[in-house]
Amino acid sequence: MSGAAIADAGPIAVRRLQREDAEAVRELDSLILGGDRSSTWAEYIDRFLAFSRLGTQALPWSGSQVAEVEDGVVGFLLAERQSSGYGLPPGVRIVAVAVHPEFRQQGVGRKLIEALRADSNRQGIKHIYSVLQDKDERDAEFLKGCGFELAPVKVFVAEA
Ligand SMILES: CC(C)(COP(=O)(O)OP(=O)(O)OC[C@H]1O[C@@H](n2cnc3c(N)ncnc32)[C@H](O)[C@@H]1OP(=O)(O)O)[C@@H](O)C(=O)NCCC(=O)NCCS
Repeated sequence: MSGAAIADAGPIAVRRLQREDAEAVRELDSLILGGDRSSTWAEYIDRFLAFSRLGTQALPWSGSQVAEVEDGVVGFLLAERQSSGYGLPPGVRIVAVAVHPEFRQQGVGRKLIEALRADSNRQGIKHIYSVLQDKDERDAEFLKGCGFELAPVKVFVAEA
């Protein structure tokens, strides 16, 4: 999208993600490459796209959202219900959040998080999580900027 197109893009609306959004999500995902892509997320996009090909009925509630302007989708947030695990209470986990490169730093990511928060509240869900790799510093700053705090969890690993 060009600068002129962005200036004319009109209001940004956020709504729940539908099965029909799969192609727009795939297209936006394909714009985000290399160092611009968090190291934590690619497999989840593939999982959503595979799932969206499997049926025609509405997707079960997951908390996932899209942000759109008149011309199409400019951001998405994929989430899934998380049962109790890792000593954390049950809630919803953000598995991928992405904004079109030319629409960043304008509060779109924050709107997606706020929509998830409101939607989760309506479902009676009390906690929202996101798991990052240590090196994903931008994503950590984004989550902190949206009101997330570091959880008291440690992950230990050894060779099998
Ligand atoms: C991470 C991402 C979703 C942020 O989207 P965005 O629409 O630009 O974010 P917002 O404008 O809503 O920013 C909200 C807050 O997050 C923080 N933030 C956003 N981008 C940041 C950056 N690059 N560096 C540091 N802090 C940042 C700021 O605190 C900001 O608040 P402020 O503008 O009041 O200072 C976007 O950069 C992106 O799509 N990245 C590529 C995909 C990806 O790797 N996603 C990782 C998560 S799975």
